Amino acid sequence: MTSTAGFPHGVRIAGTGSAVPERVLTNADLASMMDTSDEWIRQRTGIAERRICTPGKESAYTLQRDSLERALEDAGMKGSDLDLIIVASVSSEMTCPSNACRIGAALGAAPAGAFDLVAACSGFVYAMNLADSLIRSGRHKAIGVVGCDAMSTIVDYNERSVSILFGDAAGAAIQVRDDNPDKGCIYQVIQSDGENWPSLFLPRKKEDIPPNSPEIDIELGKLRMEGRDVYRFAVSKFKEVIQDALNSTGLTADDIAQFICHQSNIRIIESAKEKLGLPDEKVYVNIDRYGNSSAGSVGLCFDQIRRAGKLEEGDTVVFVAFGGGLTWASSVWNL
Ligand code: COA
Repeated sequence: MTSTAGFPHGVRIAGTGSAVPERVLTNADLASMMDTSDEWIRQRTGIAERRICTPGKESAYTLQRDSLERALEDAGMKGSDLDLIIVASVSSEMTCPSNACRIGAALGAAPAGAFDLVAACSGFVYAMNLADSLIRSGRHKAIGVVGCDAMSTIVDYNERSVSILFGDAAGAAIQVRDDNPDKGCIYQVIQSDGENWPSLFLPRKKEDIPPNSPEIDIELGKLRMEGRDVYRFAVSKFKEVIQDALNSTGLTADDIAQFICHQSNIRIIESAKEKLGLPDEKVYVNIDRYGNSSAGSVGLCFDQIRRAGKLEEGDTVVFVAFGGGLTWASSVWNL
């Protein structure tokens, strides 16, 4: 979908927030749990450490709630000012009720609508794009968007090629209606191709595992990944969606203040930067400290970039994410 033409309203990002668990899990910690090394992990992924929840103290729910509460504080708003909450996550505790409903209750948002959205690592960008469209349609005025995953609850720490990549984090943004229709998302893509879903999936029972899947000794309820297949997909898709966003809006990298990208693997980010000639200072990276937090990563980056004072009103930013499904999403925003 291109352009804001025909919409009477624009969308303003009124506030952002994020939350990460206290516990730091370093590469050295992982090397004491499995046959791996700090050197291998840094070289292959760029990750030095990640945060993981302490059971009983933190969870997907607490990270989601805390990030949205901080975003509301940043916006100078209350839960009751929201008319919708969208939580993007593959690790919410229950499918019924959605975590969005529980968070809405905790923050006094009832009777705001609330639902969880499943689009894996693309989830936050999916939710941001959807919320913008709902506000532009005139049906909603203020939407809280949360992207979060507690990946430590769904990876198998006996599986070294999967578990080393992931961490836990949440990022949230408050979108509100604005009189200026040029403010907000000016271009967006939400896409998927389910053909290759077995390259990244979370089976609940034996029947979910496709018959031709390689024999992997991973518990049910834990993430399975064909790393090389996902790597190939991510490298080509990352570059393609950024190029498409720029071509479709007639913008160049010079016009963009920040490319706010899913943190999957430093080699995937570096490859896109190199192929597109993007300068270091415009592509924020925090994978070294937080790993890949799936739906949490783009929202966490957005909040950290804003709080570091790297963005000003009127700036244009590009969001990009890709992940299980396989899914991908991008958007161009005038802040
Ligand atoms: N430590 C040490 N060795 C490891 C290891 C670890 N943590 N994990 C795997 N290895 C070994 C493998 O057993 C293999 O050994 P072998 O050659 O003796 O068989 C070797 O390292 C190479 O394994 P491979 O899986 O081919 O490594 P890779 O270079 O593809 O790197 C990933 C693995 C997971 C880092 C990489 O494939 C990747 O980043 N993929 C994308 C994942 C992603 O981004 N997922 C989320 C998408 S949103």
